[in-house]
Amino acid sequence: MKTTDSYTAVQQSLRQTPRTWLVTGAAGFIGSNLVETLLRLDQQVVGLDNFSTGYQKNLDEVRDDVGPTPWSRFRFLEADIRDMAACEQAVHGVDFVLHQAALGSVPRSLEDPLDTNANNVTGFLNMLTAARSAGVSRFVYAASSSTYGDHPGLPKVEQTIGKPLSPYAVTKYVNELYAEVFAGCYGFRSIGLRYFNIFGPRQDPEGAYAAVIPKWFAALLRGETPFINGDGETSRDFCYIDNTVQANILAACATSDQAANQVYNVAFGQRTTLNELFGYIRDLVAPRNPAVSAVLPEYRDFRAGDVRHSLADIAKARTLLGYAPEYSVHDGLKLAASWYMEKMGTVAVR
Ligand SMILES: NC(=O)c1ccc[n+]([C@@H]2O[C@H](COP(=O)([O-])OP(=O)(O)OC[C@H]3O[C@@H](n4cnc5c(N)ncnc54)[C@H](O)[C@@H]3O)[C@@H](O)[C@H]2O)c1
Repeated sequence: MKTTDSYTAVQQSLRQTPRTWLVTGAAGFIGSNLVETLLRLDQQVVGLDNFSTGYQKNLDEVRDDVGPTPWSRFRFLEADIRDMAACEQAVHGVDFVLHQAALGSVPRSLEDPLDTNANNVTGFLNMLTAARSAGVSRFVYAASSSTYGDHPGLPKVEQTIGKPLSPYAVTKYVNELYAEVFAGCYGFRSIGLRYFNIFGPRQDPEGAYAAVIPKWFAALLRGETPFINGDGETSRDFCYIDNTVQANILAACATSDQAANQVYNVAFGQRTTLNELFGYIRDLVAPRNPAVSAVLPEYRDFRAGDVRHSLADIAKARTLLGYAPEYSVHDGLKLAASWYMEKMGTVAVR
């Protein structure tokens, strides 16, 4: 089978034999997109979130987008993964777990490493333990490209990592270590997905820890000047959310022994500099708000804990999972632009 066919085949099989999924972090950016796709695929979905960085409005939007029948297959638990009893309740009767709940952001972890550790390490271990005890057949979790740390090699290949550069990176690496140990000691099957700068609808543009793409859409739509940390030649492998959803579903449904108990890069496999990204976003907003064409970014100091360049080798996910990202960075930005314009409207440039 060609890899491009793998996702279609998995989607057909899920429609024929629906499963029960737990999505933690369901009210967040990635979690709410997973919930939406799973409901569209006729699955039963349990969502868990404590609304620390996620929003009820994300779930409301999914409800409105999917319609009443798919939505009736969704059950939500407002709960915290630091609470073991809540994790045990959430995994009851579940086939697959897609574990997304965590505190994201490198700067947040530098400000408050204890909180990041409690959510990302203790919370993760609670979920992993509860899933194992409940006999969940596959545990897929959000790992991170931050695990590559100070290793300078490009593109990033899964088996070669450096030293972590932030408390956040430590927590995400610890997740991988626990998953590996649970496989070795208990035979519990899991898959880690090292996300590289995911973007798309429902990614939060607000707050001190917002990611660059939503922040810049919001700034330009509000008529504010976006700023760039550093000289703008920092690069990232930006990946549209639908590619990420595909990777999660393929990982949960992968049946080969080779594919299990592994970590995979989830990215598009292309490097974009911040200067290029700024140009793309400005060009997408400009037709709506012509004065934006003249806006130039403001350059600031480099940010602590940031790596200079990031680019993924996605061959492992292609080969073992059948991952075939369908949306390029530019295609994804167009879709994200429509969403931010619809949700935020525009104001005159000051
Ligand atoms: N967005 C990216 O580019 C990216 C990159 C690498 C890794 N990740 C990882 O992907 C996952 C999802 O990230 P996102 O971008 O959707 O962020 P997000 O903040 O939008 O979503 C995280 C969700 O988890 C929930 N949550 C946090 N702590 C919780 C707790 N203790 N109990 C219950 N719910 C809790 C939040 O309320 C939020 O809804 C995270 O694990 C993050 O570390 C994201």
